Amino acid sequence: MRDADLDAVMAIESAIYTHPWTYGNFADSLRAGYECRTLWLGTELLGYFVLMLAAGEAHLLNLSIAAAQQRAGYGSLLLREAAALARGRGGRSLFLEVRPSNRGAQALYTRFGFRKIGVRRGYYPAHSGREDALVLTLTLE
Ligand SMILES: CC(C)(COP(=O)(O)OP(=O)(O)OC[C@H]1O[C@@H](n2cnc3c(N)ncnc32)[C@H](O)[C@@H]1OP(=O)(O)O)[C@@H](O)C(=O)NCCC(=O)NCCS
Repeated sequence: MRDADLDAVMAIESAIYTHPWTYGNFADSLRAGYECRTLWLGTELLGYFVLMLAAGEAHLLNLSIAAAQQRAGYGSLLLREAAALARGRGGRSLFLEVRPSNRGAQALYTRFGFRKIGVRRGYYPAHSGREDALVLTLTLE
């Protein structure tokens, strides 16, 4: 992902989330040196992820597929890529947060081998107040 991709990234992000990341969140992730990857089919952006690597732990901060391209295997492809990248950099575990209401994403993560290790209370903004986050982890070794 480069700065020049951020308009296309934001078009997907703002279309698929009730509380999307901002342009600045992505720009900051690039500045911070997080692994930010995009998946293109020709000139069409299909999806992207943002992965933070630190001290043997990897944190998947964002994984998104364009609405019209979901359920075609691209999310699985990017998840495999993120896990391989984390493992290649010495990561032993991959962590992520997911909304309890996001059944589709949970189905993907469960199928991939993630397990639930905890709950962060009121982690996400929601329509009426806050929503918890489920914390999931995948062992990479
Ligand atoms: C969640 C997301 C990344 C999954 O990507 P995807 O490309 O649609 O997923 P895949 O096609 O690789 O799905 C693989 C499997 O995961 C499960 N799955 C994925 N989306 C699902 C859904 N909406 N409902 C039920 N199961 C789902 C299924 O088992 C699926 O296999 P199948 O299609 O053969 O049944 C994508 O739907 C997305 O960007 N959603 C909106 C943003 C989001 O929720 N991001 C995750 C935040 S934690």
